[in-house]
Amino acid sequence: MIAAFERLVRPLLHALDPEDAHALTLKLLKFAPLLPAVRDDTRLAVRAFGLNFPNPVGMAAGFDKNAEVPDALFRLGFGFVEVGTITPRPQAGNPRPRIFRLDADGGVINRLGFNSQGADTVLKRLAARADAGGIVGINVGANKDSPDRVADYVGLIERFASVASYVTVNVSSPNTPGLRALQQATALDNLLARVVDARERVAPNAGPTPVLLKIAPDLSLAELDDVVGIARSRRVDGMIVGNTTLARPPSLRETKLAGEAGGLSGRPLLALATRMLAETYVRVEGVFPLIGAGGIDSGAAALAKIRAGATLLQLYSALVFRGLGLVAEIKSALVTALERDRLDRLAELVGADAAAVTAEPWPA
Ligand SMILES: Cc1cc2nc3c(=O)[nH]c(=O)nc-3n(C[C@H](O)[C@H](O)[C@H](O)COP(=O)(O)O)c2cc1C
Repeated sequence: MIAAFERLVRPLLHALDPEDAHALTLKLLKFAPLLPAVRDDTRLAVRAFGLNFPNPVGMAAGFDKNAEVPDALFRLGFGFVEVGTITPRPQAGNPRPRIFRLDADGGVINRLGFNSQGADTVLKRLAARADAGGIVGINVGANKDSPDRVADYVGLIERFASVASYVTVNVSSPNTPGLRALQQATALDNLLARVVDARERVAPNAGPTPVLLKIAPDLSLAELDDVVGIARSRRVDGMIVGNTTLARPPSLRETKLAGEAGGLSGRPLLALATRMLAETYVRVEGVFPLIGAGGIDSGAAALAKIRAGATLLQLYSALVFRGLGLVAEIKSALVTALERDRLDRLAELVGADAAAVTAEPWPA
């Protein structure tokens, strides 16, 4: 059913401006709850952060910024959905055009700048579906003009903890000036101390809410040492590696579009993001699980992420090029990999290649 739908709709979407195509996709997905639910192979089940994921393939933040279609995404086979980034107050983001498709590269550049309907609207929407189940992570960020960005994160965690399966502290968007500076050691230590404290404060009413940290793939290894050390000492529950990159690999074929400002995602990000994932994995030493994101566009890429250290996966950009059928394709490739190695669970593959990946030459 999904395949037939996509054969009709994908050429139309591709002819549209990328942001218009995205808006139309969200409208169409509002009909997807009519689809029958997918039953996953039990061997794909993953337990992480105290949560039971039916499969490890998640929708990355940025697709459903305002929590309009999480239940449709579950019907399409995602094992979890991360909504957001949500900012406390509504904000428009940067002027359009601000999303660019690099067709020849399978990449996307975006400089949306946290366009968000704001906490009040999104919280109402999530509260209305609170009993529907499914793992919904909530990715939080600061308003561009906020006088106190740390207070923005703290306030969002207090407000959203009761409807969140987990919360992601996003300090890695390249499109809000100065935001990535929150990854610097002193600032990050203060932010995570305040965030974890807020989580503890609301836990008696909201229950336990895992806190994840989402980082940029552009950190130096010295910066990554600091970030992982602080994440461990502040006892975050996991990390997402990672967000879009400011780098422009020399291999990009869409040289004109490559000059657009913003974060690059999709296939041109795969090598760098997978390397940073492995580098993070060896530093975390199994203390908490990692979500691998960046350039997953096939079963092979998904398996490489798991072997580099990912317990869970997230993707977004490849859906633009490969369509929603990619989710089922990845899940079936993972089952095949398990059968080939006669394994019962994906956990047995997590990090199997991490050391080897960190020994390779740095990806160009
Ligand atoms: C159009 C677009 C919007 C995004 N918005 C967000 C966002 O609001 N918050 C966030 O943490 N990441 C955002 N991301 C980053 C994705 O969540 C993901 O980390 C990144 O794109 C790498 O995965 P991919 O290569 O599979 O797309 C966005 C990505 C794209 C392409």
